[in-house]
Amino acid sequence: MHRLTVLPGDGIGPEVVREAIEVLNTVASKFNLEFETEEALMGGCAIDAAGTPLPETTLELCRTGDAVLLGAIGGPKWDTTDPDKPRPEQGLLGLRKGLELFANLRPVKVFDALIESSTLKPEVIHDVDLVVVRELTGGLYFGASAREGDRAYDTLDYQAYEVERLMKVAFELAEKRRGVVHSVDKANVLESSRLWRQTAGATGAGYPDVELNHMLVDNCAMQLIRNPKQFDVIATENLFGDILSDEASMLTGSLGMLASASLGERYPGLYEPIHGSAPDIAGQDVANPIATILSVALMLRYSFDLETPALAIEGAVEAVLAGGFRTADIMSEGKTMVGTVQMGDVIRRAIEG
Ligand code: IPM
Ligand code: MG
Repeated sequence: MHRLTVLPGDGIGPEVVREAIEVLNTVASKFNLEFETEEALMGGCAIDAAGTPLPETTLELCRTGDAVLLGAIGGPKWDTTDPDKPRPEQGLLGLRKGLELFANLRPVKVFDALIESSTLKPEVIHDVDLVVVRELTGGLYFGASAREGDRAYDTLDYQAYEVERLMKVAFELAEKRRGVVHSVDKANVLESSRLWRQTAGATGAGYPDVELNHMLVDNCAMQLIRNPKQFDVIATENLFGDILSDEASMLTGSLGMLASASLGERYPGLYEPIHGSAPDIAGQDVANPIATILSVALMLRYSFDLETPALAIEGAVEAVLAGGFRTADIMSEGKTMVGTVQMGDVIRRAIEG
């Protein structure tokens, strides 16, 4: 029995999570697995209900379960630049920190069936298969930060052990893939990046079968568009990873397809789509549930070591896309347009076989 904490969140979060849980139920009966789910509040909905984006009870539930599935959070209702007002994003950052999820894995794989929805040339993106491994509990997001009158600052601060544990995740992942790691930094300018580069090199010595390349972040941004196939695993600082992973996701032409896993050592992993809460289309049954469904596949793989059921989900998604089913965000001429629930249904039918 695996215990899941489910945080549907805001906007389209609840709709896409519902489809993903139904997919999990389908996989459970097919492979004779048992899951128990418990919902909790995080994000804007938690601000409304409890006055805080991450209630203590939610964090506790996440800590004591076996994995966390998150929809999406945020929306115009809670947008503010007032430093004293709670923001939904604080819930997400608090969860990452509170669960010590220092490694964020964002796989970017171009689906053959969707190659035409990218803005880039097919020959550039065909066969792209990379993972951004983003440091998630340090760097610019968590360094000393303050507003003092007309001045404000954020600090990029790392200790060697934080870089080392992140790089280990990257090297271990590369060992199971094509054996290439690009460690991305700004070592020509930043002291923290020189520590990063040095630590990445020292950690890499323990992985002789993996090729380690150092790359400056501005060059990486350029190379991702110029020749994305050169990348297997990209390991980088928190904010660099935030930016590069959005850029990398657009290689696939569809933010609605990409899943992510956030992993630590002490507490359960967290799985979420990389897209936002899309409040403009919430409640209309048009959101693409695939990223959340693929997040469930990552959860089966990384938290529960259930590779076959994970592949069953990923295979079903590919089959459904090859069969021409599309939600509005990835719709193109001659394809069959489906809503959120229908997309979930065809994926479940594909899993059942
Ligand atoms: C992401 C998001 C978050 C981040 C926001 C919502 C705080 O952009 O997961 O990439 O910046 O980490
Ligand atoms: Mg982001």
